[in-house]
Amino acid sequence: MTMDRYVITGKQRLEGRVRTSGAKNAALPLMAATILSEGKTVLQGVPRLSDIMHMIGVLNKLGCQTEFKDNELVIDSSTLNGSTVDEELMRKMRGSNLVLGPMIARNGRVKISRPGGCAIGTRPMDQHFKGLKELGVTIQERHGYIEAAAKKLKGGEIYLDIPSVGATENIMTAAVLAEGTTMIRNAAREPEIVDLQNLLNKMGAKVRGAGTHIIRIDGVKKLNGTEHAVIPDRIEAGTHLIAAVMTGGDITVENVIPEHISPVIAKLRQGGAEVTVNGESARVRHKGKLKAFDIKTLPYPGFPTDMQPQFMALLTMAEGTSIVTETIFENRFQHVAELTRMGAKITIEGRAAIICGVPTLEGAFVEATDLRAGAALFLSALAAEEGTVLEGVDHIDRGYENLEEKYRALGAKLQRVVKQP
Ligand code: EPZ
Repeated sequence: MTMDRYVITGKQRLEGRVRTSGAKNAALPLMAATILSEGKTVLQGVPRLSDIMHMIGVLNKLGCQTEFKDNELVIDSSTLNGSTVDEELMRKMRGSNLVLGPMIARNGRVKISRPGGCAIGTRPMDQHFKGLKELGVTIQERHGYIEAAAKKLKGGEIYLDIPSVGATENIMTAAVLAEGTTMIRNAAREPEIVDLQNLLNKMGAKVRGAGTHIIRIDGVKKLNGTEHAVIPDRIEAGTHLIAAVMTGGDITVENVIPEHISPVIAKLRQGGAEVTVNGESARVRHKGKLKAFDIKTLPYPGFPTDMQPQFMALLTMAEGTSIVTETIFENRFQHVAELTRMGAKITIEGRAAIICGVPTLEGAFVEATDLRAGAALFLSALAAEEGTVLEGVDHIDRGYENLEEKYRALGAKLQRVVKQP
């Protein structure tokens, strides 16, 4: 299926101010959690992205009414009447599996098409099922569908083998209406988990410990609608900071929570970039080469896997040799082949990629295979010699709101060529 493409002029020094949008990976679980109340929930600062539109489609299919205007999303789940998320919807966005917990808590049962893997890995759900079963949920998998049901949810003791973000979120949203107390140990600690705890508690839940490895949920009888503002997107913010370094520019990124991007700031400083943090904005000015450094992706607060491709793009032009180790996903090096087409010198040894810095990348015809690989190639095109044609922009649309406008305002020269029907 052909997708839109970007034609990007290289060697454009970017400078100015850019404001990050709300976080996609916070908004998706928050949207799913609105199913838990029989009222209306207003989410502010929701980014207008294709993943968000797909989740709105899922909620509509389940019977919720939604209204999305100027980044404010109103979800009325009083009219919830469905219980199946079909294959077509699941294929559009695997994050739809986040309705599992809320639907079991609200409706007692749900049927979702097994989410397909995606470019970066098989994305199993064994930890989701392990936790839900501890709460009394029966899970059946057949004909490519997952059927989950529970007569009565009861609190349980759950130990996650992997601090899975999605599994932590599905267990939290199932446990809030369970009878008794649930403990989740080895829980994911990402900021998006804390944002979900904050929404749930505003709805009347009793959740504590998000952001640490141990989360305690005391079940309540009922939850109500509320209002909540989505946290800023730490991955979008990090992407913009890298754009400043790669183009030798000067960019101030607004609407950031500095603590959420501390691993990114630390690595940029290690490479010699000048990063100044001032309240809710971070500024990066950089001239000349960055010194090479190594990266190892880990669960939060370790270095985020969602920034790995963008940092690899940066390191292709660093002074020296870098090693990037991807410990979270088993197939998150698809951007390597495309970066190599642009003149990068990278070899892959299992989970590690060894990058020898080159003076500059060259424009080429390249293709985005997934969201963050697309972001990495977008940044590379802005820094490379000559022009680049970047195919597969639909992947980038999933995670970056108003990317063209934001980058044109910083001085980028790019055109979007819409796919021919
Ligand atoms: C969330 O995915 C994010 N997506 C991902 O962002 C992010 O990369 C990931 O967390 C890690 O931070 C959303 O929040 C919508 P995991 P999720 O469960 O929840 C394995 C992006 O680019 N695993 O923490 O699916 C899994 O295969 C996306 O915005 C199991 O083995 O991630 C992976 O190797 C990409 N069994 C690792 O754990 C399970 O039951 C981490 O997965 C669940 C996960």
